[in-house]
Amino acid sequence: MTSSAHPGLLPEPASFAFPETGRFRLSTNSFVHTPSSLAPAVRRWARDTSDAFGLDVTVKAPSPDRSSPMVDFRIDEQLPVGGYSILIDDAGIAVAAHDLSGAFSAAATLKQLAGPQSMRHASTGVVGVDFPFTAIVDHPRMQWRGVLLDVARHFMPKVGVLRFIDHAAAHKLNVIQLHLTDDQGWRVEIEAFPELTRVGAWRAESARGVWQAGDFDGQPHGGFYTQDDLREIVSYARARGITIVPEIDVPGHVEAAIAAYPHLGTTKTPREVRTTWGMSTQVLDPGPESLAFFRRVLDEVLAIFDSPWIALGGDEVPTKAWRESPEIIARATSLGLGDVDEMHGWFLAELCTHVISAGRRPMVWDEGFGPWLPREAIVTSWRGFAAGLDAMRAGHDVVMGPEQAVYLDHRAGPDPHEPVPVGFVRTVEDVYAFDPLPAALLEASPAPEHSIVPEGRLLGVQAAVWTEHLPTQRQVDYAAFPRLSAFAEVAWSRSADRSQEGPKSTEFLARLTRDHLPRLAAAGIEFRPLDGPHPWQKRPGIAGAPRDLAKEHAVAGWVGAGGWREGSIDPGELA
Ligand code: ACM
Repeated sequence: MTSSAHPGLLPEPASFAFPETGRFRLSTNSFVHTPSSLAPAVRRWARDTSDAFGLDVTVKAPSPDRSSPMVDFRIDEQLPVGGYSILIDDAGIAVAAHDLSGAFSAAATLKQLAGPQSMRHASTGVVGVDFPFTAIVDHPRMQWRGVLLDVARHFMPKVGVLRFIDHAAAHKLNVIQLHLTDDQGWRVEIEAFPELTRVGAWRAESARGVWQAGDFDGQPHGGFYTQDDLREIVSYARARGITIVPEIDVPGHVEAAIAAYPHLGTTKTPREVRTTWGMSTQVLDPGPESLAFFRRVLDEVLAIFDSPWIALGGDEVPTKAWRESPEIIARATSLGLGDVDEMHGWFLAELCTHVISAGRRPMVWDEGFGPWLPREAIVTSWRGFAAGLDAMRAGHDVVMGPEQAVYLDHRAGPDPHEPVPVGFVRTVEDVYAFDPLPAALLEASPAPEHSIVPEGRLLGVQAAVWTEHLPTQRQVDYAAFPRLSAFAEVAWSRSADRSQEGPKSTEFLARLTRDHLPRLAAAGIEFRPLDGPHPWQKRPGIAGAPRDLAKEHAVAGWVGAGGWREGSIDPGELA
């Protein structure tokens, strides 16, 4: 039910009511009761609200004298996992949460109820805040509501990451996959291997725009996070209900590591950290030395990150160098592998086992799905949807993050001057229409007999912000928002027909424009205006490489659209 008092919550709650009138005022020296298990979320909310509204909200344990607490948080295990309820009336604000995660989500909703000022870090002169009377009962659709942030292609200074965490939390996202290593840079300090950051954390220059254009900026680029920086990031995120999943990408996307330690590569010769984008045929020598090296790297990663999940990459691994190496072929044979290509699955499986024996769960891109992959591994489906469906049917938990739906580096509109026009056109409406398990896919690929019911294996969804063409935080803002807001509603709010120009999509766009963009603006997010970039957001003269989704889909169908495959059509040929 909606009314004029409706503050346009985003993501939309499962159920809510706003009477026309009635407001509750939180003023100076307010206090909030909470059980200790919810205190991390409540403390965070109290501090943020105090800062934004010039208050001094004090957090207290529940006391026997609960005569009239102004704000009261309590546990309600009858609510669904991650769920919460909020009742605001004359007596104050009563919040119930199933668990800590529900309390974080309730806090995000309370902030939206307090208006855009709540997104600011300090008061603009106001003292006190009014909350509209309301009754909300809410819970997440997906348990995994993730976004990948690529800090390898362009390093994002630590404060930028902290800021990104704030913005993700404001949207009730609960996972950030930090893509820490790639061909173009190694961003995590590893004490056992200092060259990884001394050499691998910087490159001589960067391709400007799509690498085929041969345009270079002549500007050294780099940076890395110390282990303490990363511990700070982890605990900052934890204090906002977000788990940081580290990604160490192997056995492809490793040129920066090979530049630091040439013995890891197949040629054993020194190389520079890569300055262009695209795929690299310089992959790891998948032998015992690389295995020992990356087990050691992972031991340090496991000690820094408390995430139950550790991502091992596994995407885009051309096997040309292995097929040309008699030693690697001989090693594959001695391991009993049918083909040297199988070293990809075997190598990943070895590292998965290492992660599992440390009590965590490995996560791999869908190229890593195959007979070698331990069942505990989570598969992220990025090359379209079908790979994820197959992995679910094989019994893996799956996160759906298909390139053609939720890659936010892809151009946000059809204008050729979109900065920078790479990938498919993915508008806000396109992202809002993302359906993680489309009926057309299920119809096109009927389940084999005895396969596991797929829906139960759908852990969640994940958007991705790859940064080849997003060198700064300002450009990350532009690419991520407001499309990440649309994604957040898909991840959180109940399943619905969100197709373009349908009633849901129309209502969403109105709510986004009227209620949510002002929140993003107050948060200092330099989002993309819905009608296209501000002049200063344009990047004239920087070449893109647009792709045509309809054409790729027509050629490759559900299985092939999106992503790279050995021997597949070069998307450039279709453009
Ligand atoms: C990927 O986009 N290569 C996972």
